[in-house]
Amino acid sequence: MPIPESFLEELNSRTDIVDLVSSYVALTKKGNKYWGLCPFHSEKTASFSVSPDRQMYYCFGCHKGGGAINFVMELEGLGFVDAVDVLAKRAGLQMPETTPGDSSTRKKRERMLSLNKEAARWFHANLSLPEARDGVTYFRNRALSPRTITRFGLGYALEGWDNLIRAMAEKGFEKAELLEAGLAVKNSNGRIYDRFRHRVMFPIIDVRGNVIGFGGRVLDDSVPKYLNSPDTLVFNKSRNLFALNMAKKTSLGRIILTEGYMDTIALHQAGFDCAVASLGTSLTEDHVKLLSNYTSEVVISYDGDQAGIKAAQRAISLLSKTGMKVRVLKMKNAKDPDEFIKKFGPAAFADLLEESDNDVEYRLNQVKSKYDLTADDQRISYLKEAAAVVARLDSPVEREVYSTRVAELAGLSSAAMQEEVKRLRSKSRWKQRKVEERRALSPAQASQPEDRSLRYDNVPSAKAEEGVIRLLLLDEDFYEPAQSLKPEEFSSPTWGKIFSLLMEHWKQGTPCTGASLAAYLTPEEMSLLARIREVPESVGQGRQAMADYIHAIQRQRTADNDEALMKFRYSKKSNGGT
Ligand code: UTP
Ligand code: MN
Repeated sequence: MPIPESFLEELNSRTDIVDLVSSYVALTKKGNKYWGLCPFHSEKTASFSVSPDRQMYYCFGCHKGGGAINFVMELEGLGFVDAVDVLAKRAGLQMPETTPGDSSTRKKRERMLSLNKEAARWFHANLSLPEARDGVTYFRNRALSPRTITRFGLGYALEGWDNLIRAMAEKGFEKAELLEAGLAVKNSNGRIYDRFRHRVMFPIIDVRGNVIGFGGRVLDDSVPKYLNSPDTLVFNKSRNLFALNMAKKTSLGRIILTEGYMDTIALHQAGFDCAVASLGTSLTEDHVKLLSNYTSEVVISYDGDQAGIKAAQRAISLLSKTGMKVRVLKMKNAKDPDEFIKKFGPAAFADLLEESDNDVEYRLNQVKSKYDLTADDQRISYLKEAAAVVARLDSPVEREVYSTRVAELAGLSSAAMQEEVKRLRSKSRWKQRKVEERRALSPAQASQPEDRSLRYDNVPSAKAEEGVIRLLLLDEDFYEPAQSLKPEEFSSPTWGKIFSLLMEHWKQGTPCTGASLAAYLTPEEMSLLARIREVPESVGQGRQAMADYIHAIQRQRTADNDEALMKFRYSKKSNGGT
C-alpha cells in the first residue's frame, strides 16, 4: 500500500466528516445523524445521511456511501491518493513520502502546475497589449464576450520565437522546465523556442482547478488549426475534458458533450453551462468514468459530418455501458453547436435538447439510413436489423413502442415486427435463464448490492456475512467469537476480504474503523459497507446474533458443498453410462 496506514489513521482522526460534508451540503441534525440533499443524485427530499459516530455517509436514494476519503473522491472525481492529498491539506498534515523519488515527482508536478498557471495568466494579460490586437479581433469575430473571455481565461500567444520563454524566465522558470511542460519545443539544431506563437489560447483546467495544458488556435485558415500541449506529467488528453471544471457545477442536470473548444465555449456563453469537450481525441473509458462522477445523463452534441456520426456511435456504446442515460442531439442546418447557436439562438438550441433522440432512436435511425425502404427486399433486411436493436430492450413497453415505429416506417405490419423481436429474444433466452433462476431463488431482489459486480451468489449466506461485519464494526467484543470463522467460508468475496482485513488488524492490536477501509476497497465496496451499516443491530443481543450468523454461514457452506458433490456424482454417473 502506497500511503502508510498510520498516516491514514491520523488523517481520519483529524477530519470530521460532518464538518467536511457541511462545506458542500446543507445538513440538519435529526436523531444521531445529519441529513441533507444528496450531492450525488438530484432529489427534492433529503435521503443523504452522515453519521458522526461512524464517520461515514450513506444515501438511501442512490446508495452511495463511505468515509471522508470516499466523499472527496466521489465529489471531486479524484483518485484515492489525490483525495487523501486534498484532505491532508485541509487538515494541515504533510503528505508522507511513500517511495523514494515520489516526493520529487510531486514537487515537479507542483512546479509544472505553477508554471502553467503563470503562462495562462501571461497569455490572458497579453490581450490588453496593442500587439495582441489580432487575437482580440479574432475573439470578437467569433462573438465571444469579454465576460466569456475572462471566465475561460482565454488569451493570446504573441508573435515571435521566445516571448513566453523570456516572460517565464522573469518568474524564475528555466527553459528546460518549459520544454517539459510542453510550452516550448526544441528543433534539430538544439534551439529552444515557444511552442505557441501567434495563436489564441485556450487553457485546459482540470476538475481541481489546475491549469494542466493548452490548446492554441491559428487566427486564419492555416494548418494545423489547433496546436495542443503534448501529454506531460500533469496532462493526459484521454483522462481530461475541457470545461468540466465548470460543467461539474451545473444545475441543468446533464452534461453536453461536444467535440470542440469553440462549441463548448459558445454553449456556456449561451447559458448552457453544462457543456464539455473532449480534447481532440475520441472518447475513452477514462472520460466516461470521469463523466459518470458528475452526471447521470449525457447529451452527445458532435458535428453532423460522417466523422461526427462515427464518433457519436462510439461514444454511445461506451457511455451506455455505465447505465448513464445517453441521448444524441440532432443538429439541423448547422454543422456544429457553435454555428447552430449563432444561426438560431439559445432558445432553438434548448428546443433541440428537449427533442433530442434517445440512443435507441438514434441507433434505429442509423439502421434505417442504410436501407432504401421503397425496395421490398431492403425493407425486410431493415426490419430484421432493427428487430435486433429492439430485442435488446428490457422494457416490454419500449419494445412495443419501437416495434410499432419500425414497422410503420417499413410499411409492414406491427405484428410481423413483434414476431421477429420475440423470436430473437427467445433465442437469447437460455443465457438469461440462469440469471433469472438465481434471482427467483433469492428472498428479495432488494437484498442484492447495487453494484452488479458485487452481486451475491448465495443470498442467505451473504446476509449473515453482512451481519458479522456489522457487529465487528459495532464493538470490539465481537472479534473474539468471530475467530471461529475463516475468510474462505464467506460466499461473497467482498465480505471475505473485509473480514480478513478486520481480523488481521485486530490481531495486531490496531482494530480499524469502517472509514479507514477506504484504502483497501473500491468505492462500490465502500458504498455497500455503508449500506449494510444502516441495518439496526443491537450490541445487547450481539453475542447470540454473532453465533447465529456464523452458524448460518457454515450451514450454507455445507449446503453448497453438498450441491457440488451431487453435481459431481451425477456427471460421473452419466459419463459412466455412455
Ligand atoms: P473542430 O475543427 O471541430 O474545432 O475540431 P472547433 O472547436 O469547432 O474549431 P473552430 O470552430 O473551427 O475554431 C474539434 C476539436 O478537435 C481538436 C480541437 O480540440 C478541436 O476543438 N483539433 C482540431 C485539434 O486538436 N487539432 C486540429 O488541428 C483540429
Ligand atoms: Mn467549430
